[in-house]
Amino acid sequence: MTTKNVNVILGLQYGDEGKGKFTDMLASQYDYIVRYQGGDNAGHTIIFNKQKFALHLIPSGIFNKKKVVIGNGCVVNLKTLMTEIEYLKNANFSVEGLLFLSSKAHVIFDFHILQDKLNEENKGDGKIGTTCKGIGPCYTDKAARVGIRVCDLFDKDLLLQKLTILLNDKNIYFEYYQKPKCNIEEIFKEYYAIGQQIKKYVCDTSALLNKAYDDNQKILLEGAQGVLLDIDHGTYPYVTSSCVATAMSSGSGLGITKINNVLGIVKAYSTRVGEGPFATEIDGEIAHNIREEGHEYGTVTKRPRRIGWIDCVALKYAINVSGASEIALTLLDVLSVVDEIKICVSYNFDGKVIDYIPPTQEQYAKCTPNYITLKAWNMDISGISKYSDLPQNAKNYINELEKILKTPITYVSVGPDRLQTIEVNK
Ligand code: GDP
Ligand code: IMO
Ligand code: MG
Repeated sequence: MTTKNVNVILGLQYGDEGKGKFTDMLASQYDYIVRYQGGDNAGHTIIFNKQKFALHLIPSGIFNKKKVVIGNGCVVNLKTLMTEIEYLKNANFSVEGLLFLSSKAHVIFDFHILQDKLNEENKGDGKIGTTCKGIGPCYTDKAARVGIRVCDLFDKDLLLQKLTILLNDKNIYFEYYQKPKCNIEEIFKEYYAIGQQIKKYVCDTSALLNKAYDDNQKILLEGAQGVLLDIDHGTYPYVTSSCVATAMSSGSGLGITKINNVLGIVKAYSTRVGEGPFATEIDGEIAHNIREEGHEYGTVTKRPRRIGWIDCVALKYAINVSGASEIALTLLDVLSVVDEIKICVSYNFDGKVIDYIPPTQEQYAKCTPNYITLKAWNMDISGISKYSDLPQNAKNYINELEKILKTPITYVSVGPDRLQTIEVNK
């Protein structure tokens, strides 16, 4: 990716495209790596020097010892954050002096997690399949303007007052569903103490990043989830509760005109965790082989990921709404286990051929994919480091995708390790 001053990495599908790998790999070129939305529903895997890490909250730039920022657009489970800080410290990647947490980020409490689980139970068959990390309920409180932000934890009177208002309301809900009520005093004491522990990381991260920008420092914004899970642009209601595609400015506090390139991460096939229609979903032996070869099990919840062919209708849309200017194509090596590869180029819907995702999920569930089929390569490509050494059928697949998506594929990833990355120079 051309290293302009402020760039973005985000996923163009349903998450787990390999954002962590690419953020880690490109982080050496930046001064700051920033998360701008989501929370510990994210699971970003990073592998280098035979070491494997999974991060949920702390941006994937930490292994390059870069400054890492959790922006105001994030929702933060501070217990997860403390565990992650400890996990990194034990691996000799101390965050001291490098981690900055926005004072305006919203706090995920244990009661948000209970609420998330209860909401899912109550939906029955209509459940979203959330990660049950309290993401939806925390963003709901934010939008209802009753949420508690990191900055609220430091003033005892204010915190107690805000918690009392919030929990009196939550307790009506918990009581209705015959669940134990929240003890306001206990929660207040616990979270005031947590606030004291994390206080040293907290600052006005928008001011920090804008100052860095003025000082000509380089900033990489790391998206979580994927565009098709975006609350506005995704397959609503089977989405997460934050804006993935366009919140890099609002969620970081960097003005919109300061943001340059967007590198979209695209898996060479599709996966989805959780519920919701998935037009190109496949099952049977091919799906099984891809799942096992790609280790397609959720990083956060360990659920087997649903598998499908690449969907260019959805991808074209995701490129449009996110402004992705280039693509990194990941997990290409996994397609070594198939004989032929399908690319979805349109849907059949209501007796017509369409090239868009219809607005309701009931309509989307009725879409069936139209495919073009290409031959695969049936060989291990995970050791290849030069584009010219890729088998011709792999190049054909890359070329076909570029043609359909009208967006350059600038990287190809052929394995989970930082080094298993090919820069495309045709
Ligand atoms: P993220 O949430 O977008 O950061 O992605 P995840 O880490 O949740 O899932 C991607 C998975 O694929 C992880 O297990 C990565 O280690 C792995 N991975 C990333 N790129 C490649 C690749 O090119 N090939 C293979 N085989 N695995 C990859
Ligand atoms: P990364 O950053 C894949 C999915 C959940 C569920 C929906 C809503 O690793 O790509 P939520 O807990 O956010 O309310 O769940 O979104 N989901 C993800 N799927 N990767 C993720 O993150 C996800 N984060 C949330 O499975 O379908
Ligand atoms: Mg993930």
